[in-house]
Amino acid sequence: MGRMTDKVAVITGGASGIGAAAAEKLLSEGACVVLGDIQEQAGADMVASLGDRSRFKMCDVTDEAQVEALIQSAVDEFGKIDVMFNNAGIVGALGPLELTTSEEWKFTLDILLNGVFYGMKHASKHMKKAGSGSIISMSSVAGVTGGLGPHAYAAAKHAVVGITRNLATEVCAYGVRVNCIAPYSVATPMVAQAYLADHTDIDATLKMLTDESPLTGRPGLADDVANAVLWLASDESGYTSGHTLTIDAGITTGSMAGPPRFSEKAPLMREAGKQGI
Ligand SMILES: NC(=O)c1ccc[n+]([C@@H]2O[C@H](COP(=O)([O-])OP(=O)(O)OC[C@H]3O[C@@H](n4cnc5c(N)ncnc54)[C@H](O)[C@@H]3O)[C@@H](O)[C@H]2O)c1
Repeated sequence: MGRMTDKVAVITGGASGIGAAAAEKLLSEGACVVLGDIQEQAGADMVASLGDRSRFKMCDVTDEAQVEALIQSAVDEFGKIDVMFNNAGIVGALGPLELTTSEEWKFTLDILLNGVFYGMKHASKHMKKAGSGSIISMSSVAGVTGGLGPHAYAAAKHAVVGITRNLATEVCAYGVRVNCIAPYSVATPMVAQAYLADHTDIDATLKMLTDESPLTGRPGLADDVANAVLWLASDESGYTSGHTLTIDAGITTGSMAGPPRFSEKAPLMREAGKQGI
């Protein structure tokens, strides 16, 4: 308790999954949180369980005016905004590029990229004036390397890494930090829907992610991502900006499930050569 005392955080997509886990985490460390989402009932249920340091406001991140109003509501309710977590998302357009329609492509980028742009734009305005702030946006391992997500998703998540780095160079002079996070799959409704076509089957998703984890028996959890958000939101990361923090058990750096490929008993390569191997 106390790592976020007196801080005010806005979280988009805060009614479910990672956004909800981050809201609980920041609140438990003393923050006030304002959640924006298109799920009205789930958002209302969240603030009912979080208590009086939380608020919910309907917000579709594809609508700039709604994102601006969400951020303004945090300033009106709690006096300021210290942390902006641009998190709302969907998997979006699936399948081969040749079958991806421009409507699906644009719809996906509208949520995953334009929504982040609006959040960055209106949060940074307040933070530059205040001389401090932390903007955290949701990328993905699909934004760091190829082959780990559908095309439009990967394009948007790579772009989040790019705009994070660029905005960091603009606002550092004002004391504002800009970072993004890049998780591998964790068991949320979005992933359950994508992998098992059932957004409610979190248990089966968790089992699948446990089986394929490089860290044997240890799947990634929404709470792991929330811990990364907490660190980037708090003053503990005060000298970190422009960074993409992977939360992936080393998957993007080569770690795979199962035993290591190189046997400890293998001879040196030159000895193997002598044996004609
Ligand atoms: N779960 C994972 O494994 C994983 C991995 C990497 C990145 N991510 C990213 O994390 C973010 C959160 O995903 P999640 O897994 O928690 O999924 P989730 O489905 O549990 O939560 C996403 C939330 O975003 C909201 N949302 C969707 N469209 C919106 C819109 N237009 N405006 C406002 N809110 C909207 C949904 O209503 C939902 O509450 C996404 O950006 C996703 O791409 C997730």
